[in-house]
Amino acid sequence: MSTSFKFDEVKVYKRKKIAVLVSGNGSNLQSIIDACNSDQIFANICIVVSNVKNAYAIDRAQKNNIASIFIDHKCFKSREEFDQKILDILRETNPDLVVLAGFMRILSPIFVKELQGKLINIHPSLLPKYKGLNTHERAINNREEESGLTIHFVTEELDGGPIIYQKKVKIEKDDTSESLKNKVMVKEHQAYPQIINLFIKNRLKLINGQVYLDDKKAPKFGIDL
Ligand code: GRF
Repeated sequence: MSTSFKFDEVKVYKRKKIAVLVSGNGSNLQSIIDACNSDQIFANICIVVSNVKNAYAIDRAQKNNIASIFIDHKCFKSREEFDQKILDILRETNPDLVVLAGFMRILSPIFVKELQGKLINIHPSLLPKYKGLNTHERAINNREEESGLTIHFVTEELDGGPIIYQKKVKIEKDDTSESLKNKVMVKEHQAYPQIINLFIKNRLKLINGQVYLDDKKAPKFGIDL
């Protein structure tokens, strides 16, 4: 008996593409690389873009045969021109998702608008508390009992986009900004790949400024994992 199949019955699963923007050590990049390599995320990183020449994140990309590029923001007359350059590169590689992983530049509205709904960031605090820099130090100085991380869609408001996920971390009496940073980092490396995986599987979306998981509106402070 000969087997026959119709072409439209064959589902082709193609790995999606992720672009990652970095400026530093790239430990979050590493957690995404590892998740792609182990198929926890069914995607490939198509490009790593750094605005810092000797960022260790670039070494991590190279060690994993991932295309990477350094673009010096200081060579551009304006923030917009620098952002346009990155957009040009992203248009060429055409990623399904753009991940900010320690990218230390404020992005201009043109950039954010073009990538709306497929641009995410991880921030080391429980937003809306402690936007910007030195989050751990400020949380400790303010004698907070907890801090943590936030993953959010990026909008024009700095660290202000719709929240996808938050993870709390308890601050102990003897915590320093360094020890708190390390505790939060461990959680970052667990959470970011999981959230990226939901997006890659089309389960996580931004619709009219609102986060949805499996077509259900997410709570204001994000989904549970
Ligand atoms: C992380 O703490 C992340 O939350 C923040 O920048 C840091 C990047 O660290 N946005 P790394 O470069 O991924 O190690």
